[in-house]
Amino acid sequence: MILFNQETKTFHLKTSKTSYLMKVLETGHLLHLYWGRPLKSENLDYTVRRKDWFSFVANTDNIDAFHLESKEQEYPGYGSTDLRSPAIELEFADGTSATDFRYVDYKVVDGKPALEGLPATYVEADKEAQTLIITLTDKVKNVDVELSFTVFEEYNAIARSVKVINKSADDVKIQRVLSANVDFKDSKFEMIQLSGSWARERHIIRTPLRIGGQCVESRRGASSHAQNPFMALVRKDATETNGDVYAMSLVYSGNFLANTEVDMYSKARMQIGINPFDFTWLLKAGEEFQAPEAVLVYSNEGLTGMSHTYQNLYGKRLMRGVWRDKARPVLINNWEATYFDFNETKIKEIAKQASEFGIELFVLDDGWFGERNNDDRSLGDWFVNENKIRGGLKKLVDEINGMGMKFGLWFEPEMVCPISKLYEAHPDWCLHIEGRTRSTARRQLILDLSRKEVCDYIIKSVSDVLASANIEYVKWDMNRNMTEIGSAVLPAERQREVAHRYMLGLYHVMDEITSRFPNVLFESCSGGGGRFDPGILYYMPQTWTSDDTDAIERLKIQYGTSMVYPNVAMGCHVSAVPNHQVARITPFATRGISAMCGNFGYELDLTKLTGEEKAQTKAQVAFYKEVRELIQFGDFYRIQSPFENNETAWSFVAKDKSEAVVSFFRTLAVPNDNLATICAVGLDADAIYEDMRTGKLYGGDELMYVGINVPDKVVGGIAEEGTELFAGMPSPVIEGDYAAFIWHFKKVNK
Ligand code: DGJ
Repeated sequence: MILFNQETKTFHLKTSKTSYLMKVLETGHLLHLYWGRPLKSENLDYTVRRKDWFSFVANTDNIDAFHLESKEQEYPGYGSTDLRSPAIELEFADGTSATDFRYVDYKVVDGKPALEGLPATYVEADKEAQTLIITLTDKVKNVDVELSFTVFEEYNAIARSVKVINKSADDVKIQRVLSANVDFKDSKFEMIQLSGSWARERHIIRTPLRIGGQCVESRRGASSHAQNPFMALVRKDATETNGDVYAMSLVYSGNFLANTEVDMYSKARMQIGINPFDFTWLLKAGEEFQAPEAVLVYSNEGLTGMSHTYQNLYGKRLMRGVWRDKARPVLINNWEATYFDFNETKIKEIAKQASEFGIELFVLDDGWFGERNNDDRSLGDWFVNENKIRGGLKKLVDEINGMGMKFGLWFEPEMVCPISKLYEAHPDWCLHIEGRTRSTARRQLILDLSRKEVCDYIIKSVSDVLASANIEYVKWDMNRNMTEIGSAVLPAERQREVAHRYMLGLYHVMDEITSRFPNVLFESCSGGGGRFDPGILYYMPQTWTSDDTDAIERLKIQYGTSMVYPNVAMGCHVSAVPNHQVARITPFATRGISAMCGNFGYELDLTKLTGEEKAQTKAQVAFYKEVRELIQFGDFYRIQSPFENNETAWSFVAKDKSEAVVSFFRTLAVPNDNLATICAVGLDADAIYEDMRTGKLYGGDELMYVGINVPDKVVGGIAEEGTELFAGMPSPVIEGDYAAFIWHFKKVNK
């Protein structure tokens, strides 16, 4: 709900669990008043102090001792009487950059207008949300900014975006246009970021705020493995289940900045948006610029409350298409099984074996096209290599379909290899700067998606392949960061627009291809999780979480990813040991239980499994199918963190609490330790649940408040309970390093 109090000139944005208040001052400046638990009143005027402390900062409108710098502002500019980190910075035709944006008017519309050319959350019916659009203007330069706030009442989130409109007759250069800014009255927070690197993505890092700027950002042309477009400020006492959390997540896949500045009065300013670094945008007279969307979530139920809000909103009102609500298939991917070394016979052998295990989708990864037998050539040449796939793609697809499985295919459409037919024909189609080295990574260059003809080529070449056979899944990869960012066709004054224009081109390409093939399931990938962000999720409802398939490394990666993203978005595979990324040897059961954290699959040569592993695979697939709706669409609870403990636990609970799966992992064996219990979370305390393995009945209250016994097999001792986890799935007895266990509880109708 959106209220406006005429008397106090206050906007009150109300979600089911949040209030967000702004006020127009007499001077016309838009102040931020409050963000937090629901309030009844729209009158917080007592919080706006007229007189400020002595400051070197100049007085606003020359009103004695009144300066914006000491106020909480909603969307601060730069160069007037607030010299903190601005949300917007413009360069005008006269070379100056001071701005002073003041309130003009507002409107409220039902529902949510789309953001043209950009991914964004949406509504299915107008009654799901209301949108407030506030116009501010800089009178001197005749430039407006429209601040838009969509209130998702039930989802409990506020989506913000900003549009800059040049109403003047002159050019304006945007130097910085962030999507959201929140000024807090203090800085007694800790900051949470999701950071890492390739094969170590989205580790949770929590640090106290300090005076000065602290930011996470990407300058890599993609949201990146290193940082995720997300930041949360949490009160120091906030935990997984309690306390205040204020979070921002950016629906964007390119260079971003998430910044918190603590000023000299120890007040925090939190911001998120396109990274101003190496970015400008020329706005001609009459033109508009739409910045991406930021989603703001407040929770007073700790990190779980925040994550549930993001997971629910992104799962239902960011992801789109027929697959949004459909159970995702169990897949086998041949990458770690064969790398480039395969032919159609090998592929069919693996597929045959997979079909016998009940696996539903075969994914043919890199190496099926052009002359690609290793990673040194052919990206861009999207036609099948008949030396490897004799008889062509359609024949192979039909045969795999004949085994009762869907067929999926890998592409890396944004790239071109210098050794390729595409590069021979169009050497200027890649991002490059005349006279500079075209630095390759994995012997590939990035196509210039700021160019229409390049986007058209990608759309056509990928569509042609998809139309040529019954391809029901696509893995869309992207394996390098941007360097020498330049476009052969843009004028000098627009070269710093290229990284953002690339994203607009990419979104257009993804939109077009996914609309042409609405029934195809698209999984994005960028060397694993290099572009696991809300922008891509709008087009592709699942992402390959990380190239790291080690069951133990995955605990941290999946735990961190769950901070913002739904489990159904996470691709998780069982792979061979020694693991290809870290050489760790883990039990097969642990690999299965770890991968049952999202979209489950296998990525190893199934024909080489031992008899026992084959039995386990069959049982794992059967068990996963039984609980997959719960895992993919239930509520996820983090119970014990791998960042803090030797033991990790999480669970999935059906929305109606009728069913739950609880997973437990012990990284290293500990001699003579206390026997572990795990307390379930989110169950119905008054209900009776059956342990589907043992048939034992427990009260929901017992499972949550007393805990479940982990069936430890202490050194020299015996397993506490039987050796079979579920029919045919041998018990992963908690013994030795890298042990894991999984429970399935169902509510009993009594
Ligand atoms: C990187 C991906 O993350 C892998 O899963 C695999 O598809 C390779 N690229 C193929 O080149």
